[in-house]
Amino acid sequence: MLSSPVDQIKDRLDIVEVVRGYIKLQKAGVNYRAVCPFHSEKKPSFFVSPTRQSWHCFGACGEGGDIFKFVMKIEGVDFKEALRILAQKAGVELRKEDPKLKTEREHLHEISELACSFFETQMEQSSAGKEAKDYLLKRGIKEESIKKWRIGYSPNIWQGLSDFLVSRGYKREEIARAGLALKSAKTGKYYDRFRGRIIFPVFDLSSQVIGFGGRVFKEDDPAKYVNSPATLLYNKSRVLYGLNKAGMDIRKKNRCVLVEGYMDAIMVGQAGFENVVATSGTALTPYQLRILKRYTDNILTAFDMDIAGDSATKRGIDLAQAEGFNIKIITMPEGKDPADVALEGNWAGLVEKAKSIHDFYFDNVFSKHDKKSLEGKKDISKILLPIIKRVPNKIEQNVWIKSLASGLEVREEDVIEELVKIKPENDIAVEQAGEKLAKKTRKELLEERLALLILQEPKNINFVKQEDLDFFSNKEVVNYLCNNKGIVSNVPENLADRVNYLCLKAEVEPGLSFKEIDVQQEFKECLRQLKTLFIRDKLDCLSKEIKKAEQENDLRKAQQLVEQFNQYSRSWTDLEISEI
Ligand code: GTP
Ligand code: MN
Repeated sequence: MLSSPVDQIKDRLDIVEVVRGYIKLQKAGVNYRAVCPFHSEKKPSFFVSPTRQSWHCFGACGEGGDIFKFVMKIEGVDFKEALRILAQKAGVELRKEDPKLKTEREHLHEISELACSFFETQMEQSSAGKEAKDYLLKRGIKEESIKKWRIGYSPNIWQGLSDFLVSRGYKREEIARAGLALKSAKTGKYYDRFRGRIIFPVFDLSSQVIGFGGRVFKEDDPAKYVNSPATLLYNKSRVLYGLNKAGMDIRKKNRCVLVEGYMDAIMVGQAGFENVVATSGTALTPYQLRILKRYTDNILTAFDMDIAGDSATKRGIDLAQAEGFNIKIITMPEGKDPADVALEGNWAGLVEKAKSIHDFYFDNVFSKHDKKSLEGKKDISKILLPIIKRVPNKIEQNVWIKSLASGLEVREEDVIEELVKIKPENDIAVEQAGEKLAKKTRKELLEERLALLILQEPKNINFVKQEDLDFFSNKEVVNYLCNNKGIVSNVPENLADRVNYLCLKAEVEPGLSFKEIDVQQEFKECLRQLKTLFIRDKLDCLSKEIKKAEQENDLRKAQQLVEQFNQYSRSWTDLEISEI
């Protein structure tokens, strides 16, 4: 029998290798661990099990599953898309589907891809396109970079791309939803968003085209760039331009250079420094930082830095600092951007001179204010104290305190005293960075603990009576564990995720290896508490129903309910007694 594509993919791909393609993994016994890519944390609580081909985060986010679920989450795609990505990796061919059944997402992907090749062709073949290309070559972009980044040209007419896409069977509304056309309010007609511009396609992590940036090249338009709007595929605060190509090099060098412009990323990359990505003119967002965290903890910024006041750039840096990145600042020579420096061949030298964020802030602030005057001292401390306050690492914070004290020629104690007075900033951005915790209810926690204790000490199943199963919301799992005497094999498909999760947790959870007798004690206690919770809920529920039946004058029903109530409350008392 031919197995399904899902099974074929699972046979051919190892989850450890797939996950390693996205994040750094460390060996931990039979499993692998990492800092969870799905929520922000410092200690690694993300585990991958090669034996069960599953993964789980035992930290705040509590996510887990198989290879497909992982790709869905990390790429932010639906199941079908994950299937496509993994099928490609595994070399498994998927049956062609009915085009009508394609999802909106797939349509937009196709449109974006087609548009990208349309722009590429225009660059090669139209005369205006050739002019655009000459401009790029003159600025020092190499022919091979144009190919590598699939840079193109959008003709300077109202419906060039649109008509082409319509001829390929796409609807005008769809083209607009892909961000490539706009509807005129006056005439109701659609027209191309990108006209007469050099086009930089923007890629997702699997190098699919998701959006575009269009740059003027004859300098006659006041808007230097026109960019794709937010679409189903594209959100500028989530993309890091170039990460699809830079990822490996960032991992290898264990650091990432952040620049602002497409041109910067391309030119620095072609000068041989490939660990570079661009933020496309927006401030760093928590989402971007979380993606970067999968690759490295070390960032170098080559932004146009203005830390006076509350610039967006500074907020991004503060945020990165709060997320635990080590940050260095590359200072650009006056009036130059990274593209210029790379072209002159001075990039490596400039990076070498990158300052620690500490030195950068201090040099910057001390050069702008007079540390001798009282006013100057106040101004300096006003800027630096909040920054020092935010340093999460105490040792590092201490270094900053010392520098400030000696820079201002005051006592360290005084700096500390002032530091204490500063309220921790409730920076919205910083708050956003901490993912909402997936809280489990007490009942869920108890059930989970009981299952773990069975896996840890299979004899515990002897304490579970058939009627106890009613107390579990996840009856099937407990039933399965009991029937198999706590030995896991041939897990039914519908239970696989849950059982895999429990097995992995039983392996990695510290503090589960008590003496046998303790494990039994704990098991009995958890079971008792679970019953208590169950009965308490039941009693609550019954008393409401009794009230309702009485209000409705249904005395017979009320009587029945009262009997049930009494029964439960007797077993409640029994449980309370057994506690002693
Ligand atoms: P060059 O000026 O050719 O060096 O291009 P660049 O890509 O380096 O652009 P620049 O450093 O001026 O700007 C950085 C990024 O900000 C660009 O890549 C764009 O993503 C974005 N950007 C710049 N100008 C505009 C604009 O006028 N409108 C919009 N929406 N975005 C812009
Ligand atoms: Mn630039």
